[in-house]
Formats: sequence, structure tokens, C-alpha cells
Amino acid sequence: MFNPSSIRKPEIVCILDIGSNKVVCLIGSEEPGLGVRLIGSGFGVSAGLKGGAVIDLEAAEAGIRTAVEKAERAAGVTIQDVSVNVALRSLRSKHMTVQTEFASGAVADRDLKRVMNSSLSELSQPDYAILHAIPLNWQVDGEDGIKDPRGMYGKRLGVDMHFVMGGIGPLRNLAHCIERCHLQIRSVTVSPYAAAIAVLTEDERDLGVTLIDMGAGITSAAIFRDNTLVHVDALSVGGRNVTMDLARGLSTPFEAAERIKKIYGSCLHGIDDDMQTVPCPPIAAQDELRHALRSEVTNIVRSRIEESFEILRDRIYKAGMEDYAGRRIVLTGGGAQLNGVRELAEVVMGKRVRIGQSHGVFGLSDELGQPDFAVATGLLKRAFEDSGEAISGPPDLSGRRFRERRYSGNAVGRSLQWLKENF
Ligand SMILES: Nc1ncnc2c1ncn2[C@@H]1O[C@H](COP(=O)(O)OP(=O)(O)OP(=O)(O)O)[C@@H](O)[C@H]1O
Ligand SMILES: [Mg+2]
Repeated sequence: MFNPSSIRKPEIVCILDIGSNKVVCLIGSEEPGLGVRLIGSGFGVSAGLKGGAVIDLEAAEAGIRTAVEKAERAAGVTIQDVSVNVALRSLRSKHMTVQTEFASGAVADRDLKRVMNSSLSELSQPDYAILHAIPLNWQVDGEDGIKDPRGMYGKRLGVDMHFVMGGIGPLRNLAHCIERCHLQIRSVTVSPYAAAIAVLTEDERDLGVTLIDMGAGITSAAIFRDNTLVHVDALSVGGRNVTMDLARGLSTPFEAAERIKKIYGSCLHGIDDDMQTVPCPPIAAQDELRHALRSEVTNIVRSRIEESFEILRDRIYKAGMEDYAGRRIVLTGGGAQLNGVRELAEVVMGKRVRIGQSHGVFGLSDELGQPDFAVATGLLKRAFEDSGEAISGPPDLSGRRFRERRYSGNAVGRSLQWLKENF
């Protein structure tokens, strides 16, 4: 007999990209056999964040509420929990190898769980919360490079883990802000990881690639190799710094500098830059309108972006990640829309560079497919994927050391699922 309750309703998921410039809320559902469909979106102005961290709770809360209310209205649903992004300058990667003895016989699921839990409890970083815990590689009796050790015989099981962590103070403020909007955090993903899910191809992730998300307040990077996230880094510099440099250098208000950046700004010098002028509205109304040479604008824009790429390049090198970072770079974020940024990145980083556009979500408008929405669309895709991580759910912001009971059996289930899908 027909039973309406037996029809599985599509799961509905809500994500929030809380940026320094904008807040984006997307609501999506999973279409069996098709993928993820966008069913509602909403935007808010972000006024309460600096460098990814909340500095004004009320202003940040207002941006979140506006975005969520608009998306709820568009989708015709009410939201209780959200998957959110995090981009903080305190983001850092840590790699750790842990070995444990296991009961004689073949490696079983419980052994994987035990060794991953043991890596979590050895990680002592009191001022940091773990945001991602990704198994990279397994060892059985010292034999390295094993992708799925289950069923193998031996005595010692080891795992190389990649942890991504963020400063606990800013994370608590962000969580508090979301709770004040009567929302619960379902999961947290660092911004460049989310953007990578939206725009990278499987080949890029497999061969080695660096994704750089150029936001307003944060420039963050994620390196992938063998289809896995192997490194994350972040600088508290972004498009807002470029605008600030222009406002100071041209003695013009911030809004005018923002307009100048988008219309005339470029990282590349044009042949007639010294003959073209750019109108710069005065700071005080009684002052005269000034004209700057276009080459002056290019110099200001280029030097800030060049410096950011150089810092990032040197940090990747210092972290010993250059060999993993691959020969390709993909740029996302509003800063990726700056004229000539791709060419400048190629020169400074010495790699092939492309601008990332989101794919794999149905119903995206042209606007939402642009690089500044890659974090948001990536969060939506990820909300329907198995994370394959050793931890799941919202991060532990209590500051306590890891305790096994917090991490459900799901963690290993997901990890094994990930192993199944990837190898
Ligand atoms: N066409 C453009 N040319 C140059 N810069 C642009 C352009 N469009 C947007 N931007 C810049 O991109 C920045 C906003 O990017 P984005 O929307 O990715 O930031 P965000 O996600 O809010 O911030 P963050 O990720 O740093 O917290 C602003 O500084 C803006 O000036
Ligand atoms: Mg952003």
C-alpha cells in the first residue's frame, strides 16, 4: 500500500560563509542521482569582522541574520543548524605520525579508530581547536604508503595525520555570534578547503595543486596532493588592504578607492599608463578633485598583491610543502577578479595559474558561480559529502585535551568510507 511517510524527504542543508566583506547564506537539497541543488540564497553586509575574526558581535550578528532570513524566505524553510567556514590568521597545519600495537591478526576497523584516537590525544595545543583531522597514509610494521591497511597482518599500526587548527579565542567568538542568531553549528570547514571543493578538478587535487582564496581581510591557501588536503596557511591581508593603500596613497575616501580599484586597478602596467589619469574624489568636500596617473594606481595595487604572493610562497617553502604544492595554482575570492592578478601570480609563484569557477551545484546563478562565492558553494557541496575525517560535528572549543568519547564511531566509519572512495 502507498505510504507517504516512506518517501524519503530530500535532506536540506544550510551553509554560512561569514567573510570580512560579505555574509552568504545558501540553502540546498540533495537530488538523488543528480547532486546538490541550490534552493535559496541570501546575502548580508559583513561589518563586524577583521582578518576573519569577529571584532563587533552586534554588527556580525546583524549580517548573519539578514543573510539567513533572506535565504529562508527564498527557500521557504526554517533553518536550525548551519555548516560554516573559518578563515583566521591563526590557521595552521600540523603533521603527526603515531604508531600503536594491535591485537595479533589482521588489522580491523577498531585498530584504525584506536590509532587515530591516539594521535588526537597526543596533540597537545591548549590554545587551539582542531578543525580537521585527516588520515594521510598508513603503516603496518613499518611498511609505508598503505592506503587501506584493513585485513593486513602485523603487530604495529601507524598513521600520518594532518591536523588543521585554529586559535580557540576567535573560534569561540564566531560560535557565540552564530548562537546569538539561534543557530547551531553543524560543522566547520576552513575557507580555502571549502573553495577547493567548489572549483578544483579531481586531477588537480590528485597531481598536486595550491588553492589561494583572496578575500577582503584574509588570504588563505590549501595544498592538495593524492586527492587529500595536506597543508593550510593564512595571512591577514586581503583586498581591503589594497583599497586602504589606494585611499591613503591617493588621498581619497575608502569607498572611492574601492571603486577606483575595481574600475582602474590592475597588477599589470599598460603601455599608456603614464598618459591616462584617474579621478580621485577628495576626502574633504571643499578640497578640489585630484587626478592621479593610472601608473600610480597600478604601482599601489601591484606592490600589495605582489608582497602577499611572496609571503605565501616563502611560507609554503619554509613549511617544506613546496614539493607537494604542485605546478598549478587556482585563485578564488573577490581578489581573484582583480585585473592582471593571474599573470602576477604566475610570475611570483612560478606556476600555471587559473581563476576558479564553481561547479557541481545545480541552480547557481552566474553571480554565485563567480570566484568570490567559491567558499559558499564549496561549503554546500561538502555538507552532502562524507568528510573522511577522524572527527565529525562541530569543533570542541572547550580547550580540554581530546577525550575519546567525544568522537563518535562515525568518525572511523567516515574515514573508512573515505578510504573506500579514494583508493
Ligand atoms: N572586480 C574586482 N576587482 C578587484 N577587487 C575586487 C573585485 N571584486 C571584488 N573585489 C575585492 O574582493 C574583496 C572581497 O572578496 P570576498 O568577497 O572574497 O571577501 P570575503 O569573503 O567577504 O572576505 P574574507 O574571506 O577575507 O573574510 C574586496 O576587497 C573587494 O574589493
Ligand atoms: Mg571569504
